[in-house]
Amino acid sequence: MAILKVAHLGNPVLRKVAEPVPPESIGSPETQRFIDDLIETMMEYDGAGLAAPQVHVSRQIVSFQVEGNPRYPDAETVPLTVLINPKITPLSTAMEEDWEGCLSLPDLRGKVPRYTQIRIEALDRTGKALNYVARNFHARVAQHECDHLLGKVFLDRMRSMESLAFFPEFARYVAAPEE
Ligand code: NI
Repeated sequence: MAILKVAHLGNPVLRKVAEPVPPESIGSPETQRFIDDLIETMMEYDGAGLAAPQVHVSRQIVSFQVEGNPRYPDAETVPLTVLINPKITPLSTAMEEDWEGCLSLPDLRGKVPRYTQIRIEALDRTGKALNYVARNFHARVAQHECDHLLGKVFLDRMRSMESLAFFPEFARYVAAPEE
């Protein structure tokens, strides 16, 4: 396994629409190795999730996992998930704003509105069809990662740039505001 290099904003790969993965290629050693590397890279950098375009591969694969993540200490647990060719359908019009960060926009945090309840249809890393409902933080992470496959980053989804903050200032004034 290998730690992959993470693309930062300005790299055109982050703005491309990613290619679907042919289902028959999911089981190939090359694709399986790539998925292992994507997960390992996500864990190495304490990402809640990572999308293939963020490691310079314009294909529709994302991974996410949230469990005792130092970058998101208060977040609810989300099991390790790999989605291939995902499709997200909002199940209500309700959206909630909360803070997000992204390994491709290091040190930035901003408040992003996301649907609180979505249906996720995708293939898993064995090629099996997934179809389930995700809520709250799980839904947020999935929307953030799947946006990368559309060439979108969280800045594009913010209603206003007013909350945008560098991480040290976010930590000082938002996460643990002084008395
Ligand atoms: Ni991201």
